[in-house]
Amino acid sequence: MSKTEFLESIEEELLKNIDSRVKLILETGEYLIRGGGKRVRPLLTMFSCGMCGGEPNQALKLGVALEYIHAASLLHDDVVDGAEKRRGKESANLLFGNGVAVLTGDYMYAKALHIFSTYGTMQMIRIVSRAVMDMAEGQVLELSRVGEIISEEEYFRIIDGKTSALFAACVAVGGLAGGCTDERLLYEIGLSLGRAFQLIDDLLDYVGDGKKLGKPVGNDIREGKATYPLISVLDKIDVGYAKEVLGKAKVSDEEVRRLRDMVLEAGGDYETKRRAQEEVYRVKTLLSGFSPGEYRSRIEEMADFIISRSV
Ligand code: FPP
Ligand code: MG
Repeated sequence: MSKTEFLESIEEELLKNIDSRVKLILETGEYLIRGGGKRVRPLLTMFSCGMCGGEPNQALKLGVALEYIHAASLLHDDVVDGAEKRRGKESANLLFGNGVAVLTGDYMYAKALHIFSTYGTMQMIRIVSRAVMDMAEGQVLELSRVGEIISEEEYFRIIDGKTSALFAACVAVGGLAGGCTDERLLYEIGLSLGRAFQLIDDLLDYVGDGKKLGKPVGNDIREGKATYPLISVLDKIDVGYAKEVLGKAKVSDEEVRRLRDMVLEAGGDYETKRRAQEEVYRVKTLLSGFSPGEYRSRIEEMADFIISRSV
């Protein structure tokens, strides 16, 4: 099956399961799902299933459930961040209000667990619910450090929770569905993929094209978040200025630009890409524990895509 065919079956399944009796939930859910997304998580779940000897389609519903969890987390995240844009369009919270956005997120999260209780196993439910706890912890940890410079260790604690945990769950669930029993190994592969993904996400917030990304760039500085590009060059920039800008309630475009230029001149973009590459290298090393084949290669390709992506 080509990647397009995988994507088509994912899109169809994603829309099929938003089946609320309440029109506003249908509208909000469909709005977010139709709004696009790279579908990295369901693809990863299906490829991991294939790599472990299963038929990727066996993991379609599980992958879609994991995409619902991702969608739920974005609905909630945009409320928390007060975001106005997502995937190039008005965010759901702006269009439907915070209450409807949060509650549709709750619906999608519960829908995901419902799918797992029907098509998954208790072991998978344990993995997935643990991942969502990790996500919430990562988010709260991030919130608690807004406006401050954080250490590299804290940065990884935050992203391991908010992003990597769900990637790890995708690889683990897919692999288990395919017949693999080494949950830890699968989890570690996903964790490093997730780290690489978030590192590049944070890089794109410094160097990306807002139009392509569908969300404004420079947002992390504006929101007072110290991410890897900044953290990696702390010994080369005016830390006093960085602290001052991150700590401000309202940051001007000029201040965003100045701090951003400082970070880029000190090589923060280079350092971030290098660090992400390290994680991809780890992914490939761990993948070598599986026999070579079509789906192992597809996961390797996804790892390369994650590093080179501009969206
Ligand atoms: C986007 O991060 C948000 C996340 C990666 C995770 C959000 C997680 C939660 C809200 C907790 C879990 C909740 C449920 C219901 C599953 P970002 O703000 O760095 O990226 P962005 O720029 O795309 O908004
Ligand atoms: Mg956000």
